Amino acid sequence: MATNPHPIPQFPAGFQWGVSTSAHQIEGAASRREPSVWDAFTDTPGRVKDGSTAAVACDHYHRYAEDVALLRELGVGAYRFSVSWPRVQSTGGLDFYDRLVDELCAAGVRPVPTLFHWDLPLSLEEAGGWLNRGTAERFAEYVAVVVERLGDRVHQWITLNEPAEHTLLGHALGTHAPGRQLMFDALPAAHHQLLAHGLAVRALRAAGVADIGIANSHGPTWPASEEPADLEAAGFYDLLLNQLFADPLLLGRYPEGIDALMPGEPGDIEADLKVISEPVDWYGINYYAPTRVGAPQGSEIEFGGVTMPAELPFSVREIEGRPVTDFGWPVVPEGLTELLTGFAERYGDRLPPVVITENGCSYEGIDDQERIAYLDGHIRALHRAMEAGVDVRGYFVWSLLDNFEWAEGYARRFGLVHVDFETLERTPKASYGWLRDVLRAQG
Ligand code: NOJ
Repeated sequence: MATNPHPIPQFPAGFQWGVSTSAHQIEGAASRREPSVWDAFTDTPGRVKDGSTAAVACDHYHRYAEDVALLRELGVGAYRFSVSWPRVQSTGGLDFYDRLVDELCAAGVRPVPTLFHWDLPLSLEEAGGWLNRGTAERFAEYVAVVVERLGDRVHQWITLNEPAEHTLLGHALGTHAPGRQLMFDALPAAHHQLLAHGLAVRALRAAGVADIGIANSHGPTWPASEEPADLEAAGFYDLLLNQLFADPLLLGRYPEGIDALMPGEPGDIEADLKVISEPVDWYGINYYAPTRVGAPQGSEIEFGGVTMPAELPFSVREIEGRPVTDFGWPVVPEGLTELLTGFAERYGDRLPPVVITENGCSYEGIDDQERIAYLDGHIRALHRAMEAGVDVRGYFVWSLLDNFEWAEGYARRFGLVHVDFETLERTPKASYGWLRDVLRAQG
């Protein structure tokens, strides 16, 4: 995979360039917060592939000043991190985010916190977690506390990260915390997260915030063939992973066929959808790759680190003829152009400006030429979507640091900066220097 020798085209003035992380994946200092579902999950043998936990992770909690210096040097205008709900629950927990935000402001880097990135307090899980509607209300209360404390310096907020993955992996298949294997009975967890999003938008508005988004994962679904059974399976997959999480926000309704699977009476759902579709100021998309989907094959499938049970009404297939990352994910930059133009077509003027809240890849090594090629290709693909008329306002790379990649432990390295998990030493990779030069050329 060679990098394009021509300079990356110029993006509009004011375009937001950033990098992303999340609390549980980098902070460590687990003893200084309440436990989360991920602590319980990693303590269960066999759940995380290398048997590791995020008790220390990158120790960002103690090394945040060094990490903010890396952000400043890199020249990004914004930093997307997440606030750990279980840390905010513990005494003095918000002090950490106070310090982090001050450090970012002093470095001239705009803080963009995500309010929930999968680390639900264990106490709430024990009360039913996202299957319990009350969790959405607890979330709004927590959001009000956080914005009250940080809102004088933080102006741009993200409610949730990838409710689709948290529903699918955490509640349907059980390969992520909280490890529930509910299959289609997991759908209430999706509804309650979406409701939590809407209630959080209201809480942020009440505090005067005017710059709110969500980070939803999306990718094009490519049918395995033109056979009716493959088209049907691919259509259902797209509905479940893409439309289910975008339609309620942008159109105020669930896709047909899914509404009947949601909790409560139809009337209640209608009322909830009014909350869920509270307008946002921008729509965040995490993009990694398209998914090839066909009819079920009658057996378990191992894909991208996830085992998919045979009884699913679809099967995920390999995308052939493409380079893959260390994770086995295909590298398809034009999938980003396709996704964005498809979104603009489907949602029309209901789609607010878009921000790419995550894009990146896992590769070993410090001379990470593959990551450079990946990012280069995707930034160009993004520019093409903008030329085609899609209003995109920002792009965030996942991730600043190598970190705790959930069920994969420390085996997948997504960072622009290498972390030695023995010594915690940070070493900028080739991609870090490359991105710094790209940002300088963008002015
Ligand atoms: C999406 C998630 O938001 C993030 O936590 C994860 O590390 C990356 N994708 C890579 O898998």
